[in-house]
Amino acid sequence: MMGSATSSRFGITVSLAAALLFLCPATRAQQSVKMVPDNPSPHPAPEQPIPYSHKQHLAFSLPCKRCHTNPEPGNLMTFPATSVCMQCHASIAKDKTSIQKLASYAASNQPIPWVRVYKVLPGVAWSHRPHLDAGVKCETCHGEVAEMATMSEVTSVTTMYSCLHCHEMNHAKSSCDTCHKR
Ligand code: HEC
Ligand code: HEC
Ligand code: HEC
Ligand code: HEC
Ligand code: HEC
Repeated sequence: MMGSATSSRFGITVSLAAALLFLCPATRAQQSVKMVPDNPSPHPAPEQPIPYSHKQHLAFSLPCKRCHTNPEPGNLMTFPATSVCMQCHASIAKDKTSIQKLASYAASNQPIPWVRVYKVLPGVAWSHRPHLDAGVKCETCHGEVAEMATMSEVTSVTTMYSCLHCHEMNHAKSSCDTCHKR
């Protein structure tokens, strides 16, 4: 329909809009962010056992996958082993209280009890993997992580509305059994 020569006003408007979207990368990026609406109510960051800051660490251009590895079968991104932190903090900022606490977790071989921020209801079929394979960016679902000194639930990605809205916009499967197995 879009390809056919049409002189209707609707057709012209649609092709103009399509051309503008194509020509303007900023508009496209903004559109993709809007695929997941912001969280309508404030969600303060939970208190974490160690005051880790994405903003501070991502300023050194660390890739997400250095800490969030998405192991098989791909559902979870997972949190980094304390040894990943200690690759740097065995020597960096050793005298700081927070790093001494980090070192004591590392010495005791206990995982750090990070407080979860995003959670879908149990029973909903969720996996990161098909989304990463489809090229959906972390930031589309989790916001501008590199700007966050503390991590909070800034988007409404865990709601059924957000899942469905994006699936419809991307022609991904939207039947109930896509996300609710019986
Ligand atoms: C140096 C390690 C490190 C890197 C690199 C890193 N993260 Fe994290 N991430 C963490 C730690 C530790 C936590 C848990 C503490 C917190 O929530 O701040 C976390 C938590 C998160 C959470 C919250 C998960 C939840 O629901 O509890 C998201 C989302 C996230 N990271 C996204 C990202 C993205 C996107 C990137 C890359 C742009 C990234 N992270 C890079 C260490 C890292
Ligand atoms: C690639 C190296 C690297 C890795 C990996 C890394 N950090 Fe850091 N971290 C740094 C640097 C550099 C600083 C800034 C130190 C400074 O300003 O003195 C820092 C600062 C911090 C601080 C603030 C210290 C303070 O009180 O000023 C905390 C807390 C921290 N990191 C926790 C972590 C945790 C937890 C992990 C693992 C999830 C981690 N870091 C992984 C390099 C790293
Ligand atoms: C399509 C949306 C979407 C994308 C894209 C996405 N996430 Fe998530 N993420 C979620 C949802 C929904 C949850 C809550 C899942 C749950 O309850 O298990 C979550 C949870 C997490 C968690 C905590 C639980 C876990 O999986 O271990 C981390 C860490 C995380 N995401 C990091 C990332 C990183 C890093 C990227 C990019 C490489 C990314 N996410 C891409 C939607 C997304
Ligand atoms: C930002 C867009 C976006 C959001 C938000 C999103 N999805 Fe998806 N989802 C996709 C895309 C794109 C695919 C891949 C479609 C394909 O490969 O055909 C996908 C695939 C899936 C699949 C695999 C479907 C299959 O082919 O079997 C499941 C399950 C799924 N999503 C569940 C969810 C759930 C649950 C949520 C909300 C917690 C969610 N998605 C949020 C875009 C999104
Ligand atoms: C793309 C994923 C997706 C699809 C498709 C989907 N849902 Fe959901 N659904 C969710 C998520 C995520 C939640 C949890 C929402 C929350 O925590 O706020 C949910 C929650 C629900 C709930 C309430 C939660 C409960 O278990 O008590 C019902 C009822 C429901 N969905 C029914 C449906 C029906 C009926 C369809 C088909 C018309 C459908 N869903 C299609 C993702 C999906």
